[in-house]
Amino acid sequence: MTQSTLVLVKPDGVRRNLIGEVIARCEQKGYVVSQLKKLTPTRELLSQHYAEHEGKPFYEPLMEFMLSGDVVAIELTGNRVIEGFRSLAGPTDPTTAAPGTIRGDLGRDWGTKVVQNLVHGSDSEESAARELALWF
Ligand code: RTP
Ligand code: MG
Repeated sequence: MTQSTLVLVKPDGVRRNLIGEVIARCEQKGYVVSQLKKLTPTRELLSQHYAEHEGKPFYEPLMEFMLSGDVVAIELTGNRVIEGFRSLAGPTDPTTAAPGTIRGDLGRDWGTKVVQNLVHGSDSEESAARELALWF
């Protein structure tokens, strides 16, 4: 069953010139980039994207981080791509994310208020549909 997911290269990934590296890993896995754009996200867009985290202690630092530079939004397509990209990305914390994953290979703790972990990937079909409609 063909699926699509929203991948974001977060501002840390863009600043570190890792857009191509992230896309290469997605393409090498066999997924297809269906839509792609670089943009400066607004607070309005991010507050909708991260609505589930509103009120959590890391919410404001997360918003500040995501507003700190350009983001690349990608619609990535392929069978079971939602779980497939989450697997490519690795878990949230880059310090303990396994080598071989995007976060494990390319990320680390920089001592910032919120963890900077290079990429976002939708976590369910419902999230993917909602997030793709927001960003594209
Ligand atoms: P994402 O949504 O960005 O793909 O990441 P995720 O599913 O792995 O993590 P999630 O729980 O959805 O959290 C969204 C982003 O918020 C920051 N975060 N910091 N305890 C913390 O310091 C904490 N928890 C979450 C991270 O930037 C995470 O990616
Ligand atoms: Mg998430």
